[in-house]
Amino acid sequence: MALLEIQDLQIDFGNDSSAVRAVDGVSFDVEAGETVGMVGESGCGKSASALAIARLLPSPPARYAGGSIHLAGCDVLSLPPRGLRRLRGRIVSYVFQEPASCLNPVMRIGRQIRESLRLHRPEADSDAEVVSLLHRVGIASPERRLRDYPHHLSGGMQQRVMIAMALASEPQLLVADEPTTALDVTIQAQILDRLRSIQRESAMSLLLISHNLLLVAQMADRVVVMYAGQVVETGPARHVLRQPFHPYTRCLHDSIPRLGSDQSRLRAIPGQVPQPGHFPSGCRFHPRCPIVQPDCSRTVPPLVDAEPGRQVRCPYALALSPPDPSP
Ligand SMILES: Nc1ncnc2c1ncn2[C@@H]1O[C@H](COP(=O)(O)OP(=O)(O)OP(=O)(O)O)[C@@H](O)[C@H]1O
Ligand code: SF4
Ligand SMILES: [Mg+2]
Repeated sequence: MALLEIQDLQIDFGNDSSAVRAVDGVSFDVEAGETVGMVGESGCGKSASALAIARLLPSPPARYAGGSIHLAGCDVLSLPPRGLRRLRGRIVSYVFQEPASCLNPVMRIGRQIRESLRLHRPEADSDAEVVSLLHRVGIASPERRLRDYPHHLSGGMQQRVMIAMALASEPQLLVADEPTTALDVTIQAQILDRLRSIQRESAMSLLLISHNLLLVAQMADRVVVMYAGQVVETGPARHVLRQPFHPYTRCLHDSIPRLGSDQSRLRAIPGQVPQPGHFPSGCRFHPRCPIVQPDCSRTVPPLVDAEPGRQVRCPYALALSPPDPSP
């Protein structure tokens, strides 16, 4: 059994008369010690799916309308509050995009990390452990940082502190939701590099969420590509990056700036990103699809096996991009 198994997850937002389905039948697994990358444009349901893993969505407006989530053997959607408290922290921890909004501005960072230790791992609650955590996330002279307040630190350092807080509980799964999007490219690379080393050293599982297919594919063992509340492609990261099958993944792939090209910004995919409640009929990607076929607006394509370990939600994808004969 995988550490995390999400099956046919459905999440609605809004009240009964005006609820819209934002996550519609999402399924994926994360094995112990594995890094899974989740990628897709804004609003496709990445964060909602990720927050559901520890039932962290505010409810209302969120409602778990169907499907199941099993994490470390627990049936998350039916756990009582006590079980949920044990799950949050000790089994799954989160790092979000905006460290400034997660850190307490009037509490020294050493104390904030100790609070996390006290809550989840009281046997390790000491300044020495905080220093060791700050060292692991790449903060230089960590003993001198314990008494700093968040505003003394740069954005990159604040994000390292957030990662240290998330690691304090020694989670089995770390969910990093756009952890470096707000930072400049050099700092992003340093932090992701550190995250990857920590993940490998501790054999922790990592679910890394991003808009950026290249970043996700470089970090992850497997990727899950989302579009309009659904998974449209999954597979080993190297294969998906080398030869994306789904037309949407191909568009994401084509939007990656190439070295040596004069393209300075990510090329946007033409057309509107559909919002929950306004998803197109048939294949949800059909209004933007470069190879749209006459029946695509009528027929809902299922997610099917394309080759071992790879799934795709488009019956025309393989004709467009036949699997590579060399393994
Ligand atoms: N608290 C909420 N209340 C109402 N609707 C919500 C709420 N959270 C999410 N949604 C809806 O669910 C959809 C998916 O949101 P989600 O945050 O999962 O997107 P995302 O893929 O993480 O996007 P981004 O890349 O911008 O972070 C959104 O379009 C939004 O309409
Ligand atoms: S089902 Fe049709 S519209 Fe959808 S991705 Fe495939 S070809 Fe494009
Ligand atoms: Mg999000």
